[in-house]
Amino acid sequence: MENTATSQEILNKHLELSRSQSEQDFLECYREDSFLIMRSGVRRGIEGIRACYRQLNQELPNARYTYKAVVIEQDVGFLEWSADSDTHTVSDGADSYVLRDGYIRAQTIHYTLLPKSSLRSTAEPSAASITSDNSATPEAARIAGGVTRGPEVEIVVDGQPIQAFEGESVAAAILASGRRAFRTTTRLDEPRGMYCGIGVCFDCVMTIDGRLNVRTCQAPVRAGMRIESQRGDGKWRFES
Ligand code: FES
Repeated sequence: MENTATSQEILNKHLELSRSQSEQDFLECYREDSFLIMRSGVRRGIEGIRACYRQLNQELPNARYTYKAVVIEQDVGFLEWSADSDTHTVSDGADSYVLRDGYIRAQTIHYTLLPKSSLRSTAEPSAASITSDNSATPEAARIAGGVTRGPEVEIVVDGQPIQAFEGESVAAAILASGRRAFRTTTRLDEPRGMYCGIGVCFDCVMTIDGRLNVRTCQAPVRAGMRIESQRGDGKWRFES
């Protein structure tokens, strides 16, 4: 049957599947006659592209990707991206795509690996010294001195009241309460929380006062807000 997916739909699907960290998901948008061009040469077919995926995963273990710009014209797409992994970061990722018949038929990939050790100055705290589990107390997660805060208020997150300060972001208040996961992904139900902190990645979205997909890193705290974690794109509720 003819695949009538638009270029936008093909690329959106590819980007969503790429976040799932599953090799099979990643390969879903390619066909046997697809090919991929990178600095080291051309990778052809599913097996060639699989090798490229594995190389990328080795170079960027447990990477979190941020899509900075997506531009599509007819059947050609352009993606600008960055990544943060356990060992390296990428700030200049740039891919081009030819999108036809529901698949990525050709792609170019460019990125530069930056070892994380070269980014960290000796004055910075090590990653291990930053609490990352859900057991952090609000006191431990907030800077104690030298900060002027708005009035203390209470907001309700998934039915639990938490301490917050007017004017700080909802994401900051939730992180300070010791919670790291804000939502789960549509396909794999994996947890996501604050990532970019500047309104770009949409990893931090939650339902606030009944409004879906609000970026909590951009939403200032107001007294009495009711916030709910959401699964995928969330569900609208209508009064009967
Ligand atoms: S953390 Fe990226 S949009 Fe909020």
